[in-house]
Amino acid sequence: MTSSPVRDILKILSRNDVISFAGGIPDAELIDRDAFHAAFDHVLTNNGRRALQYSATKGEPELLDQIAARLSRDLPTTPDHVQVLSGSQEGIYLVGQVLIEPGDVVLVEQPTYLAAIQAFALAGAQLIPVKTDDHGVLPAALEEAIEQHQPKFVYLIPTFQNPTGRTMDAARRQAVADVLVRTGTPLVEDDPYGELRYSGERVAPIAALPGLGPQTILLNSASKVMAPGVRIGWLRAEGPILRTIEIAKQAVGLQTAVTDQLAVARYLDTNDLDDHIRRIAAVYRERRDAMYTGLRSVLPDTASTTNPEGGMFLWVDLRGSVDTAANLNRAVEQGVAYVPGPAFYASDPNPATMRLSFVTNTPETIAEGVRRLGATFGWPKAAPSR
Ligand SMILES: Cc1ncc(COP(=O)(O)O)c(C=O)c1O
Repeated sequence: MTSSPVRDILKILSRNDVISFAGGIPDAELIDRDAFHAAFDHVLTNNGRRALQYSATKGEPELLDQIAARLSRDLPTTPDHVQVLSGSQEGIYLVGQVLIEPGDVVLVEQPTYLAAIQAFALAGAQLIPVKTDDHGVLPAALEEAIEQHQPKFVYLIPTFQNPTGRTMDAARRQAVADVLVRTGTPLVEDDPYGELRYSGERVAPIAALPGLGPQTILLNSASKVMAPGVRIGWLRAEGPILRTIEIAKQAVGLQTAVTDQLAVARYLDTNDLDDHIRRIAAVYRERRDAMYTGLRSVLPDTASTTNPEGGMFLWVDLRGSVDTAANLNRAVEQGVAYVPGPAFYASDPNPATMRLSFVTNTPETIAEGVRRLGATFGWPKAAPSR
């Protein structure tokens, strides 16, 4: 087992002279601390003994109700369909534990979320990447891979993907859904960023398309839109898999902290989350624009960058023989950090790629960080490696 490069980089970054584009970390100033203070206070004052006690593995009824109501905006969901998680990462782990036998194939995007690679690999999965373009996974390549490998499931992050920031448009979702329904292949849809949209049209999760609900495990989280420190996530599924996941969760941690569940339920009951999301999206939009325009003005013509409609990340491919991992120490010396792209590949990594997060820094700091990246890689001018 190897440690996550992102977590390792986060350790270096306690140095506060380094501008970090590395972590996918919400801006702490935008977390509604006062509202959470009031929510925790209310829970401990009015419901303290229950909040501090053991409880059911599935989740607290108040939170299950809130989650079911929110999910029902896109697909009919009752509290029975929901399992509360200690962060959606726990759901990724549990799905790996209950569905994967050593040697089983899981199909993933290329590149994909590195902690999903870790969790599925830990369960013994063989991860096979499927070709993608700017709109996500290619339906024909997906169908071919399904026929060839008979995967246990396909893992996709269709909206503001980590690490690329890409989103599958409605037509691509339908084409992918058609392949999954036709071949009866289960989907694990990971959607922690979907509500953080800054431009373009909202798209519903693939799970909401006709026929997909019963064969999809949809993962969601409080982390990116409320607060990651409460460690509250959830999954939606149908049928006997829910009970299996619940039993696996008993084995891992018995339950998610009741205090945190009740506080999030209270927060959702007494605050307008949509309004909060609109406020943070306005700030993140400016930061995305600052990073995209800053990069475009200095990147060599040979390099490419995504321009995401939401989420937290932008993906740069410097092309040629540039090695972003080999340059990371130099970048940190220049006072800037990123995550080298290869960590996000299940196989055949592209060494010239990097993931940049735009949410944690102000536009001014982003401009300075981009300048420091330029000093590291020799921009603006032709790619150093050509
Ligand atoms: C794609 C994706 N899935 C899941 C997670 C896990 O989030 P959490 O466990 O905080 O809900 C993250 C966090 O960065 C992520 O990027």
